[in-house]
Amino acid sequence: MHKSILITGGAGFIGSHVVQLFVDKYPDYKIINLDALTYAGNLENLKSVQEASNYFFEKADIQDADLLKEIFEKHQITDVIHLAAESHVDRSITDPLAFVKTNVFGTVNLLNVAKEFWKENLQDHLFYHVSTDEVYGSLHDGGFFVETTPYDPQSPYSASKAASDHFVRAYANTYKMRTVVSNCSNNYGPNHFPEKLIPLCINNIKNNKPLPIYGKGENVRDWLFVKDHARAIDTVFHKGKAGETYNIGGFNEWKNIDIVRLLCQKMDEKLGREAGTSEQLITFVKDRAGHDLRYAIDSSKIKNELGWEPSLQFEEGIELTIDWYLSNQDWLDHVTSGSYQEYYKELYNA
Ligand code: NAD
Ligand code: TYD
Repeated sequence: MHKSILITGGAGFIGSHVVQLFVDKYPDYKIINLDALTYAGNLENLKSVQEASNYFFEKADIQDADLLKEIFEKHQITDVIHLAAESHVDRSITDPLAFVKTNVFGTVNLLNVAKEFWKENLQDHLFYHVSTDEVYGSLHDGGFFVETTPYDPQSPYSASKAASDHFVRAYANTYKMRTVVSNCSNNYGPNHFPEKLIPLCINNIKNNKPLPIYGKGENVRDWLFVKDHARAIDTVFHKGKAGETYNIGGFNEWKNIDIVRLLCQKMDEKLGREAGTSEQLITFVKDRAGHDLRYAIDSSKIKNELGWEPSLQFEEGIELTIDWYLSNQDWLDHVTSGSYQEYYKELYNA
């Protein structure tokens, strides 16, 4: 059957890499990027596919059921890859309701529209929900998150993503929708909004601004290059078994302070600064409320069952990432000033 895939959140960090991969790799699929273009959505991330004949953009909020129905009808959507979300933990601490609205209500809204639109032949369609390892909570005593680890979300962000995961599985169980869920560790790479640790530090080192480390910098995250996550999503979409969950991660754990020191060292080299210069920017600040200590994913299942594994070593990925930020100053200027919203108006005469 001809595929017409709705990718939500396709103008965001991970979504834009997924859209590019699908548009380039599957010229026979119609790829519809649906995005509300919040502060985190940036069509400049998609310049390389903008003119492709199999690429379409729809500006829409997943909370708007009527508009979703129109879009399903217009493009005869056959499958959904759902990435649209409020994604930043610190923002979820100051405005939890925004996370409930998009991540919980928006996801259920999208499930309802898909279920209704596909009702004659639910088994021919897939609803793929992209989620996070943060739903499993915080690891304190070694070990890894596996697919059967009980949910124990600790932040408003992870609570909202956990709720959305539960709704997706509930729709599979109750209405027999074909669904799949993947839970991935922290991503890094090009197009990452500079509110998250790695792009924030790259930008601040470049501009000689303080590098805020929460608490003692002892918290551990498992980092995966964003294009490897996009490859994993391609794999799960095409080869994953409906009803299953797949954990995605890089077996690549780093303490925050060690990552920031690595970034300082690499950037001193690249910017021709004396060794040790950028480390002086490190500033320990008040810890994040309820800060999860450690995340670490066991991604053996996706490797053994679907044959996916990361393609890049971390040092290679970090080099690529720093080089991307250093040669895309316009992108950084636009996102830090918010002027990328103008780009949409120009492109779509809106
Ligand atoms: P992002 O914040 O960069 O992008 C989110 C996108 O969703 C933006 O383009 C935004 O405009 C759009 N959006 C937000 N609210 C919307 C709404 N109501 N309607 C339509 N579009 C809306 O996020 P990201 O880092 O690319 O994450 C994408 C997905 O992957 C999220 O579901 C997130 O939970 C998940 N995830 C992220 C990471 C990570 O490290 N960034 C890791 C694992 C899973
Ligand atoms: P972040 O990039 O926000 O991702 P997440 O909270 O989803 O893991 O943060 C990564 C880690 O870096 C997390 O332990 C919090 C910490 N952090 C800082 O120490 N300083 C900062 O300015 C930010 C944004 C994060």
